[in-house]
Amino acid sequence: MSHSYQSLEATLHDQFWASEGPAVELEFLRIFLSEFPGLSLEIGCGSGRLLLPLLREGFLVEGLELSEEMIHLLEKSAANENVHARVHHGSMEQWITDQRYQSITLPAFTLQLAENPLAVLQHLSSLLVNGGALYVTNFIPLAEIQGELPENVWYEDHRITLADDSTAIMSTKHQIDRLSQRLVREHHYQCFDSHGMLDNEFHSQQKLQWFYRVPWKKMLEQAGFAIVRQYGDFDLKKKSLNHSQILTTFARKKC
Ligand SMILES: C[S@@+](CC[C@H](N)C(=O)[O-])C[C@H]1O[C@@H](n2cnc3c(N)ncnc32)[C@H](O)[C@@H]1O
Repeated sequence: MSHSYQSLEATLHDQFWASEGPAVELEFLRIFLSEFPGLSLEIGCGSGRLLLPLLREGFLVEGLELSEEMIHLLEKSAANENVHARVHHGSMEQWITDQRYQSITLPAFTLQLAENPLAVLQHLSSLLVNGGALYVTNFIPLAEIQGELPENVWYEDHRITLADDSTAIMSTKHQIDRLSQRLVREHHYQCFDSHGMLDNEFHSQQKLQWFYRVPWKKMLEQAGFAIVRQYGDFDLKKKSLNHSQILTTFARKKC
């Protein structure tokens, strides 16, 4: 079994996201970074899907990323676009620095990949100035919870045509533990050339957990954060958070 965010999982990451439409999360990051200005750190910045547009718009954001391949892709894109990007290699569980950030962002459900999310929040709090701000987006895997996606069965998750007319397919199967709110997803990536011949493939496994609203609030409090505001399903107009599958939280480190 391979580690996540290597090989085809890294090179196809942004293109699979793009196939779902424009990056709606950018708007929420802009609101957050405007409300809490100053140097920010994006945890799990990947190949720069969110970081690079924010840098181009003049926001002061650095990145932290575990996968060297993702960092390499980010640096290549930054060089092509003539953007200066400062990206640190390390893990959200333990990376340390003398720098203290005004804010930290965990977009794209990255906290859910952590084995111990409370310990991560406590650690990240130590990288923030007093009163510093935190942005986190979490999701609840409703299709898996409700059985719309059957367990242990491969299904085609994404299919895209690349610029050279080749086809990339991501297939997924999962195992779910509803009691402990943990999900294991296996991903199989395949690239076919323009004649339909298999060119390259890659297999990965991802373990994630999800948090319901009340325990999530408690976890934040336990890590020393107070919620400032929350949004549901990347919808600025949505009044109630009930039944939201995606929860975006702005919080502040208590002094
Ligand atoms: C869902 S992707 C999001 C990437 C990017 N933020 C985006 O929205 O395109 C999660 C990213 O977190 C990184 N990651 C996973 N575990 C990590 C850890 N412990 N510390 C730092 N980064 C991690 C992965 O390598 C991957 O690039």
